[in-house]
Amino acid sequence: PAPKKIKIRNIAQHIGERVEIHGWIHRLRLQKGHAFIILRDGTGFLQCVLTGEFANAYQTLTLTVESSLTVFGTISKLPEGKSAPGGVELIVDYYEVIGLAPSGKDSFTNKIQEDIDPNLLLDRRHLALRGETLSAVMKVRAAVLGSVRRFYQDEAITEVTPPCMVQTQVEGGSTLFKMSYYGEEAFLTQSSQLYLETCLPALGDVYCIQESFRAEKSHTRRHLSEYTHIEAEMAFISFEDLLDHIEKLIVKVVDVVMKDPVAGALVKQLNPGFVAPKLPFKRLQYVEALDWLNENGVQNEEGNPFKFGDDIAEAAERKMTDTIGVPILLTRFPVEIKSFYMKKCADDPRVTESVDLLMPTVGEITGGSMRISDKDELLEGFKREGIDPAGYYWFIDQRIYGTCAHGGYGLGTERILAWLCNRFTVKDCSLYPRFAGRCTP
Ligand code: 4AD
Ligand code: MG
Repeated sequence: PAPKKIKIRNIAQHIGERVEIHGWIHRLRLQKGHAFIILRDGTGFLQCVLTGEFANAYQTLTLTVESSLTVFGTISKLPEGKSAPGGVELIVDYYEVIGLAPSGKDSFTNKIQEDIDPNLLLDRRHLALRGETLSAVMKVRAAVLGSVRRFYQDEAITEVTPPCMVQTQVEGGSTLFKMSYYGEEAFLTQSSQLYLETCLPALGDVYCIQESFRAEKSHTRRHLSEYTHIEAEMAFISFEDLLDHIEKLIVKVVDVVMKDPVAGALVKQLNPGFVAPKLPFKRLQYVEALDWLNENGVQNEEGNPFKFGDDIAEAAERKMTDTIGVPILLTRFPVEIKSFYMKKCADDPRVTESVDLLMPTVGEITGGSMRISDKDELLEGFKREGIDPAGYYWFIDQRIYGTCAHGGYGLGTERILAWLCNRFTVKDCSLYPRFAGRCTP
């Protein structure tokens, strides 16, 4: 019978069988009379062994890393004392080279060597992605997005796909990417929140996983110009409900990812010290955070002690989060440092029903709030921020046709990954990162 064409992740089910496998040469070791190929097919790694005439053939001796192959052979369990990925190896009886990769100065290894200029490595991102670390992060990324979708499905929250090309701002005019839309001014969306809000009366609670765009000119460890934004919006909830929901999302998503045999193992490999966070998360109010910062000698942007109304910038926020060492739901930010749509606290109109989730090593991974549900109060918000409400008529209508208490949040995919996979920068968590000066490949 013809050999079965299989993926490497399924090899354990075919021990003793002759199979056909396709992949790329991840590593190569040529010895006298023996050739060892670690083949990679995106589902796993498999040691392929060539012996005798095969090992000495000109074709084998001239093989190169990253060449693509079709291999035929029998899967055999490794004897005690020998090790290879999955504890099995393929005894090759025939193979074909599909695409021979270059050797010498153009070899794959030369193109992505570790001491290469980081900018050159980004030019060669399409090759670097094949490396073990980046591809592992991308596998974990897929598992995170999958478990996020599963969480929302369990919570009866419906997925929608809002537009990316819009004519409204959400998080301030300074980071808007402007574009010409058939000659009219339009923007790349900063957040799908406003659209999600309009869906509540139609579909109930909703979420989206959509690209958001921010013109962030400064280079930081955690800002991209384009990122994958996980956003949800829920009707008839209280601020407490929102906080409970956010911590539950994180704990469940991490739980599912860690239980996944592939993704869980990759997280342990990338982040050996990882400890899954437990419920309930620590809750800290903005004013309490200012006290903590001042008691611990952390200064504001001007080099002074923090005072009410100050933004807690990235460095200060990370210092606090790393020192405290557990996830923090930081709540009740002042009105002036937050967006036009945020609901004020009933017991203190200087602050809002807002929350950032801060994680050790990264800082903010989630930003959310309750929204203003009263039309006139919303119009005041636009006025305070100097925004012309005309273009927001559809958003205002949400307050006219059956308003309700509601709230939601946005979670940065690359940020939760930087935390989970212990990456220094979010750039390592995006397939082709976009930031000032980089739009290629
Ligand atoms: O805090 P942000 O700006 O909040 C919003 O956009 C709300 N409208 C979301 C909502 O309530 N539906 O962004 C939310 C999250 C941040 O916590 C961060 O994780 C991520 O989006 N984020 C970025 N990630 C990478 N690069 C950037 N430039 C980011 N800006 C925000
Ligand atoms: Mg934020």
